Amino acid sequence: MDAAAEQKYNLGIVRWFTVMAVVYLVVGTLVGTYVASELAWPFLNFDIPYLTFGRLRPLHTNAVIFAFGGCALMATSFYSVQRTCGVSLWSDKLAWFVFIGWNLIIVSAVITLPLGINQAKEYAELEWPIDLAIAVVWLAYMFNFVMTLATRKSSHIYVSNWFFLGMMVMITYLHVVNSLAIPVDLFKSYSLFAGVQDAMIQWWWGHNAVGFYLTAGFLGIMYYFVPKQAGRPVYSYRLSVIHFWALMFGYVWLGAHHLQYTALPDWTGSLGAAVSIAMIIPSWGGAVNGMMTLSGAWDKLRTDYVLRFLIMSLAFYAMSTFEGPIMSIKTVNALSHYTDWTVGHVHSGALGWVAMVAIGAIYHMMTRTFHTEMWSTKLINAHFWTATIGTVVYVVAMWVSGIMQGLMWRAYDEYGTLAYTFAESVEAMHPYYAMRAIGGMIFVTGALLMLINVLMTVRKAASEGSVRAASTAAASA
Ligand code: HEM
Ligand code: HEM
Repeated sequence: MDAAAEQKYNLGIVRWFTVMAVVYLVVGTLVGTYVASELAWPFLNFDIPYLTFGRLRPLHTNAVIFAFGGCALMATSFYSVQRTCGVSLWSDKLAWFVFIGWNLIIVSAVITLPLGINQAKEYAELEWPIDLAIAVVWLAYMFNFVMTLATRKSSHIYVSNWFFLGMMVMITYLHVVNSLAIPVDLFKSYSLFAGVQDAMIQWWWGHNAVGFYLTAGFLGIMYYFVPKQAGRPVYSYRLSVIHFWALMFGYVWLGAHHLQYTALPDWTGSLGAAVSIAMIIPSWGGAVNGMMTLSGAWDKLRTDYVLRFLIMSLAFYAMSTFEGPIMSIKTVNALSHYTDWTVGHVHSGALGWVAMVAIGAIYHMMTRTFHTEMWSTKLINAHFWTATIGTVVYVVAMWVSGIMQGLMWRAYDEYGTLAYTFAESVEAMHPYYAMRAIGGMIFVTGALLMLINVLMTVRKAASEGSVRAASTAAASA
C-alpha cells in the first residue's frame, strides 16, 4: 500500500511542504510571542528599529498566515487532490516551482518587513515586486491543481477539492485587485485607490483573506482529514455542498463590518452585519458536519491524539464563527472595535481553528508520506495539551482586556467628562498582556515539541530507509 502510494503519487513535494509548515509554525509563533512580550514589557524593543513592535507585527502575521498557513494549505491540497482523484499531480516541475517560489517570497518578506519596506495594508504589506511574484506563484499553484482535477480517474470531484479551488479562485482576484498600485521605485508604490475606496477595497480583501484563505482553505483540510483520521465517511455530503455554496456566496459581502462608523455609507456596514449574522448558519452547519462524522465513534478521541486536534479545531471554528457575527453588529462593534476583543477573536480563529486543524492534518500526513510511525505519540499528546491551554489562556486574556478597554474608554462621570485617561486604560491592560505572552509561550512550547517530533520522525524514516524502500518496492512492482 505504501509502495503503491509512493509510486502513484508525488509525495516528495508533500513531505517538503509539510516539514516547512512546521518550521514556519515555530518561527511565526515565536515572533508572535516576542511582539506580545513587547506589549507587556516595552523594554524588549531595545531601541532597535528592526525589533520594534511596528516592524515585527507584520512579520508575525505574514509568517503565520502565509508561511505556515500557505505551506500547510499547499501540502494538504497537493496530498488530498492526488488521493481523491486517484492520479499524481499534473506537473511535478510546476509543483517544485511553487515550492521554491513560495519559500523565496517568504524569505523576501523576512528581509523587507523588518527594514520597514511596507505598503501599510494589513495582510497585504509586501511591496509590489513581491506582490507580482505572489500572483505568478499562486496562479502556478492553481493551474497545477486544476489540471490535476481535470485528469482525475474518479467520476466526481470530492468536496475538499471544491473548498481548495474556491480559495484559489477567490484569492487570485482579491490579491490582484487589492494590490493594484503605481510603483515609484523598486521598494515603494502607491495604491491605485484613495480614501474611502481604498479602505473598502482593503477590507474587502482583508475579510476575504479570512473567509477564503483562513476559512475555506482550512475547511478543505477539514473535509478530507477528519473523515480519513476518523475512518468514517463525512456525516452529510449534502450538507457539505450547501456549506460550500453558502460560504462562497456569503463571505464576499462581509468586508464592510470592519469599517462600521467610518466614512463608508452607513448601509454598507448594515449589509455587512446582516450577511455576517446569516453566516452563522452555514458555518455551524459545517462545524456540526465535521463533528458528527465521529458519531458512533466518539471513543476514538480517547486514544487518537491527532483526531483530538481536528475535533478541538472544529469547536473553535464554531466558537469564532459565532463571536464574529456578534461583533459585526453595530452596537457591539462600537465597543469591540479598536480593542483587544478583536485580537482575542482573531486568535480563537487563528490558534484554535486554523493552527489546530492544520496541525492535525500534518501529523496525519507525516506517517503516510514518510511511511513510518511518529517518533513519539506522547509528544503529540503533550503538544495537544500545550496548544489547547496556550490558546485558552491567550483568548481569555484578550476577552477580559478587550471588554475592559472598551468599557473604560466610554465611561464618563456625571459632568460628561471621560472617567479614565487613555494612559490609565493602558496601565490596566498590563496583567492581561503578560498573561497573553505566557499563553503564547505555552503555545510555542507545543510547536517546538512538534518540530522535534517531526524532525526525529524524518530521521527515523531515513535510518529505516522507509521512503527509499517504498520507492524501490514500487519501482520493482
Ligand atoms: C504563540 C502564538 C501567537 C501569539 C503569542 C500571537 C501574538 C500576536 C500579537 C501580540 C499580535 C498583535 C496584536 C495587536 O496588534 O494588538 C498578533 C496579531 C495577529 N496574529 Fe498572532 N499570535 C500567535 C499566533 C498566531 C497564529 C497561529 C495566527 C494565524 C494562523 C495569528 C494571526 C494573527 C493575526 C491575523 C493578527 C492581526 C490581528 C488584528 O489585526 O486584529 N497569530 N498576534
Ligand atoms: C462567520 C464568521 C465570521 C464573522 C462574521 C467575523 C466577523 C468579524 C468581525 C466583525 C471582526 C471585527 C471587525 C472590526 O471591528 O474591525 C472580525 C475581525 C477579524 N476576524 Fe473574524 N469573523 C468570522 C470568523 C473568523 C474566523 C474563522 C477567523 C479565522 C482566523 C477570523 C479572523 C478575523 C481576523 C484576522 C480579524 C481581524 C481583522 C483586523 O482587524 O486585522 N474571523 N471578524
